Amino acid sequence: MVTTSAVAEAKVSANGQVDNVIELEDLHVHFHTKLGVVRAVNGVTLEIPRGKVVGVVGESGCGKSQTAFAIMQLVPPPGRIVAGKIVLYPKNGPPVNVLRYDRNSDEMRAIRGGHVSMIFQEPMTALNPVYPVGDQIMEAILLHQTTDKKEAAARAVDILGKVGLPNPKRLLGTYPHELSGGMRQRAMIALALSCTPDLLLADEPTTALDVTTQAQILDVMRELQAEIGMSILFVTHNLGVIAQMADEVAVMYLGQLVERAPVEELFDEPRHPYTRALMRSIPHLGTPRHARLNVIEGGLPNQYSQVPGCAFHPRCPVAQPGLCDVYQPALRPVTPTVEVSCFLYHNLDGTPVAAPTQTASSGTGPPLGDALPA
Ligand SMILES: Nc1ncnc2c1ncn2[C@@H]1O[C@H](COP(=O)(O)OP(=O)(O)OP(=O)(O)O)[C@@H](O)[C@H]1O
Ligand SMILES: [Mg+2]
Repeated sequence: MVTTSAVAEAKVSANGQVDNVIELEDLHVHFHTKLGVVRAVNGVTLEIPRGKVVGVVGESGCGKSQTAFAIMQLVPPPGRIVAGKIVLYPKNGPPVNVLRYDRNSDEMRAIRGGHVSMIFQEPMTALNPVYPVGDQIMEAILLHQTTDKKEAAARAVDILGKVGLPNPKRLLGTYPHELSGGMRQRAMIALALSCTPDLLLADEPTTALDVTTQAQILDVMRELQAEIGMSILFVTHNLGVIAQMADEVAVMYLGQLVERAPVEELFDEPRHPYTRALMRSIPHLGTPRHARLNVIEGGLPNQYSQVPGCAFHPRCPVAQPGLCDVYQPALRPVTPTVEVSCFLYHNLDGTPVAAPTQTASSGTGPPLGDALPA
């Protein structure tokens, strides 16, 4: 039940439709530890369009998982959402200000599993080892959709079949430990999809699987995503998976978004120096055997320290002294569909940098690509 205080104002597009399934605004997640404060998510603003897959990429520890956990209000202690706004636009019903609810409230429980569900890298995070798979899926359906047990069982069989599990009727009584790793992952996806969520949060869901199973599971997720019309926030550090799954990509560095772009544009013309370095670190077909892979130079700073200026400037080959080490660039549009936070593209006052530098990566401006680590 949504109380009026949690009803947010809907963002309506020109055609009168709400476009986004969720909007995160200036989200901050902090971990207060004995050694200091870790700013795991440091001002993330991100919208997920309805029916689309948004991929989140970035190095380990950049805040991808905590961003997803914040949406469910499942940030583990000592972590806390200290600022920001999360507005969910359910298919049926008014928009909801998620953070107005207590994390242990009935309303929050109704959102988890009702409108938003999550799949993890490790299926046993979600599956309970002491109950048969079917019981767990039926329980979710009975909690959120119907009180009719027969109907719930039929829906559970249907969803187990949809994720490509053989003999789904028999699986109703099967325990998680009786399944292989790939089957368990499919069962967890079935559990997450059993409530036909508006938004699925997928946190490295295939990283632990062999490549064949990984490809099958990604196919299943894409098919079901199109069929149910849900949106997915797909968290991974694997750019190959992003290319296959995502419509749009958000690149994260040290708790902040540095670039957002449609997937083709990001791969065709990565703009932020960090994104470009990330792209260069992928081995390509044709890379000679035994060739040294490109690495992003420098290391991540101490997680308790706050880097002044642009968080990437200590590792950036084109950082401008007096600017990038002092001021923090905001994420601003570079084209109608691409946003980048970098002073190569915007001046301090937010105005676009004159054309030659703006088109640096297309080859007509300064040789940004050449300046990056080879
Ligand atoms: N319990 C904790 N105590 C202190 N810091 C934490 C805790 N959990 C996470 N963090 C910090 O929060 C930051 C973001 O973590 P997060 O798990 O979101 O990273 P990630 O991008 O998902 O990385 P990975 O790719 O390794 O999963 C990290 O710097 C991490 O050290
Ligand atoms: Mg993670």
